[in-house]
Amino acid sequence: MDNKKDIKDIIVLQDIHKTYDTGALEVKALRGINLTIKQGEYVAIMGQSGSGKSTMMNILGCLDTATSGKYYLDGIDITKEKKEKLSYIRNKKIGFVFQSFNLIPRTSAIKNVELPMIYAKVGRNERRKRAEELLKKVGLGARMNHMPNEVSGGQRQRIAIARALANNPPIILADEPTGNLDTASSIEIMELFTELNNEGATVIVVTHEDDIAEFTKRIVRFKDGQIISDTKVVKD
Ligand SMILES: Nc1ncnc2c1ncn2[C@@H]1O[C@H](COP(=O)(O)OP(=O)(O)O)[C@@H](O)[C@H]1O
Ligand SMILES: [Mg+2]
Repeated sequence: MDNKKDIKDIIVLQDIHKTYDTGALEVKALRGINLTIKQGEYVAIMGQSGSGKSTMMNILGCLDTATSGKYYLDGIDITKEKKEKLSYIRNKKIGFVFQSFNLIPRTSAIKNVELPMIYAKVGRNERRKRAEELLKKVGLGARMNHMPNEVSGGQRQRIAIARALANNPPIILADEPTGNLDTASSIEIMELFTELNNEGATVIVVTHEDDIAEFTKRIVRFKDGQIISDTKVVKD
């Protein structure tokens, strides 16, 4: 059962290039990315600002498309899919967590968490129940009716994680999720990702910080739009 060969490749990038064409100048943000991630992996993406990390995460999350190359997500050839189908795939397969939380303001925690389930046409009672369960899971059972501006940064990120989990996606993508948080909240958020990974989710986290990357099991380093190293994290 535990044979590594039987674990599927959930993400496969083949020679991915991304060029931003902003009229006056062209920016080659990704220059030939090859990366395979197996189901259940826990990966940190590191590298200097501007090295292409967010560009790749946006492609992985189907928020943007590559200029060339192939992307297979859970066996689906993403580069061939139409826009509407991509939103559907994203909603089912991906939970995205952003540095700036991206919660809907003046909307309660529970409503924020329910939102992806509304898009997925989950019935009212069921989605309320699941949103409650998720907020309890991230430790916010007592904050369900609070607005985002009534809770701390760490708690906002936990609401965002609960929202990312709403449709039970197999993949969690987090782009600098601890970038706006203090050390204690950052550790709590990483512990939550570790728990989700232990429960089977494939988790990919962008970070600048070694301490944060050490929560994961594999570190992929970017430089100038290319991968310069890909190593296992040694735990002592
Ligand atoms: N929407 C965009 N339009 C033009 N250039 C962009 C855009 N997004 C990112 N870039 C450029 O692409 C490069 C990679 O950016 P990004 O992927 O955001 O890097 P990172 O997340 O590692 O900081 C940078 O040179 C950045 O300025
Ligand atoms: Mg970035």
